[in-house]
Amino acid sequence: MLKLSDPVQENAAATVAMPTFDIRRLTVEFPTISGNPAVAIRNLDLRIERGEIFGLVGESGAGKTTLARSLLRLPPEPGRISAGELVFEGRDIMPLTEVALQRMRGRDISMIVPNPRNELNPLLTVGEQIANVARVHLRVSRREAFGMALEILRAVQIPDPDRRMTAFPHEMSGGMAQRIVIAIALICSPKFIVSDDATSGLDVTVQAQILDLLRRLAKDRGSAMLFITRDIGITAHFCDRVAVIFDGEIMELADREDFFFRPAHPYTIMLMAAFSYNQRLRRLWARPEPLPGAAVEATACPYVLRCPLAQKRCRVDRPALRELARGHYARCHFPVLR
Ligand SMILES: Nc1ncnc2c1ncn2[C@@H]1O[C@H](COP(=O)(O)OP(=O)(O)OP(=O)(O)O)[C@@H](O)[C@H]1O
Ligand SMILES: [Mg+2]
Repeated sequence: MLKLSDPVQENAAATVAMPTFDIRRLTVEFPTISGNPAVAIRNLDLRIERGEIFGLVGESGAGKTTLARSLLRLPPEPGRISAGELVFEGRDIMPLTEVALQRMRGRDISMIVPNPRNELNPLLTVGEQIANVARVHLRVSRREAFGMALEILRAVQIPDPDRRMTAFPHEMSGGMAQRIVIAIALICSPKFIVSDDATSGLDVTVQAQILDLLRRLAKDRGSAMLFITRDIGITAHFCDRVAVIFDGEIMELADREDFFFRPAHPYTIMLMAAFSYNQRLRRLWARPEPLPGAAVEATACPYVLRCPLAQKRCRVDRPALRELARGHYARCHFPVLR
C-alpha cells in the first residue's frame, strides 16, 4: 500500500503520475488593428499522459494549429503566448532560451504537418535529410546516422529502402513523402509528437495505412502524441482519449469509449451528427451559422448562438469545464447525460 505521507513514496508516486505534457492555463493571442488582441487559445489546461495518443478535434479556426505550434513555443506569427506554463517531462519550457528549445525540437518533441513536400529539402537526398537529424540531435557518426536512416525507412515501410536513401523528394509520391516526414519526426524516438492534420492531403486508403503505421511506431517507441484533425471519425480508431476544441477552449474531453458512446456536449453531438446520413439528426443538432459579426458576450457560453439546447442561463453564465463522470469532462450547463 502506498503511503503518501512518506516523502520517498510521494516522489515515486509523482514520477509515475507525471504526464509527458502538462499544459497549464495557456493563452495565445494575435494582435489586431483595433488594439484588443484576438484570443486564439484561452486559459487552456490539458495533460497528455506518457505514451498516450490524444486526439484533438475542432472546426477550422478553432485554434488547433495555434495550440500545436505553441507546444514547441512557435505560435504562428504574429501570435504570442501571453500566459501559461508548458510543463514538458516535469519542466516548464516557457523560460528556456531559444538555443535550448532548438535542441529539444525534433529530438524530444517533434511535429508532423501536412504538405510533406514543403517540409523536405528538394536539394538533399532522403537519406541525407533523415541522417542529418540524427547527427545533429544524437551526435552520432555519419556512418551510424545513415544506418539509423536506413532502419527507420524500413520501419515506415518504404519499398526498396536501400535505393530510396539516394532518391530526392520530387521522385516520391505524396504518401511516400509523408512517410519520410514521419521517419524524420521519429528518428530520435521523441517523447512527444504533435501531428497537425498530417494526413489530410492524402487519399483515403493511403491515409488509413499511414495512420496505422504512425500509431504502431508511436506505441512501439513509447512516444505520446497530440493528434489533431478536423475529422472526428479518424479519432474513433486512432486515439486513446479525445477532446473537442471550440474557439480556443476545450468543450469536451473523455476516453475514446465514453466520448463516442456517451457524448455529452451539444457541440460534440453536432460534430458527430454532421457525419450521419440521417438528415433529421443533423438538423436536430445544428443551428444555422450565426450572422457574421454576431458576437458572443464574454460572460456567455461560447457555443450559445449555435446550440439547440441553449437556455437563459447559457447567455449570462459562461460554463466551466467540469467532470461529469470519471475522466469525462464537458463545458456545458445542460450536458446530455445517458
Ligand atoms: N497568422 C495569424 N494571424 C492572425 N490571426 C491568426 C493567425 N493564425 C491564426 N489566427 C487566429 O487564430 C484562430 C485559430 O487559428 P488556427 O489556425 O489555430 O485554427 P485551426 O483550428 O488550426 O484551423 P484549421 O482547421 O483551418 O487548420 C483563428 O480563428 C484566427 O483568428
Ligand atoms: Mg490548423
